[in-house]
Amino acid sequence: MSSVNENSAKFDWVKGFTVDFDLKTGMSTSDAVSSKRHVSNLKGMFADDKATDELITNGDPLVYEFYEMGAPEKEGDLAFGSSITYPGKVGNEFFMTKGHFHTILETAETYYCISGKGYMLIESPEGDWSAQALSPGKMLYVPPRYAHRTINTGDMPLVTIFCFRGDAGHDYGTIETKGYRKLIVQNDGKEEIIDNPKWK
Ligand code: NI
Repeated sequence: MSSVNENSAKFDWVKGFTVDFDLKTGMSTSDAVSSKRHVSNLKGMFADDKATDELITNGDPLVYEFYEMGAPEKEGDLAFGSSITYPGKVGNEFFMTKGHFHTILETAETYYCISGKGYMLIESPEGDWSAQALSPGKMLYVPPRYAHRTINTGDMPLVTIFCFRGDAGHDYGTIETKGYRKLIVQNDGKEEIIDNPKWK
């Protein structure tokens, strides 16, 4: 989640505020604006470059969007919001978020799933990884040091509410350069976790 956005000035970070998220869709009915990521924004991150290019040519579908309130980047503040990953595939690989480490690597994060089905794929710099199943009502703890990426394996939007320390920052570059060690794909109608052929 990017940390500077136009929502920041709309909320009173000194005195407190409330913000509405729809209990099903995760969309904010407050005065918040979401950030959107289309297939073209994830070019090179999916294993199948040909399928990526075809999708970009054919309408460049929306893969995910998120609401982040624009928390002050201070130790005592909390960044929070909702994340909506849409159903779909690039080739046989499920739609996913870019995924990131936190710039302050020793930063955990929570995600509460309110709708949809899928996984949070988490991985440490040392290569430890796991795919944590998400379904409505499950709250996930992503421990410090682990990169995290949401993957929608269902047929409806996968919606989560997230929260982490305000000054943690985002390191997208490591994942953009190296990729993830694992991918989640559909083979013969079944979900499968495979090695990422592009991982460096
Ligand atoms: Ni995060």
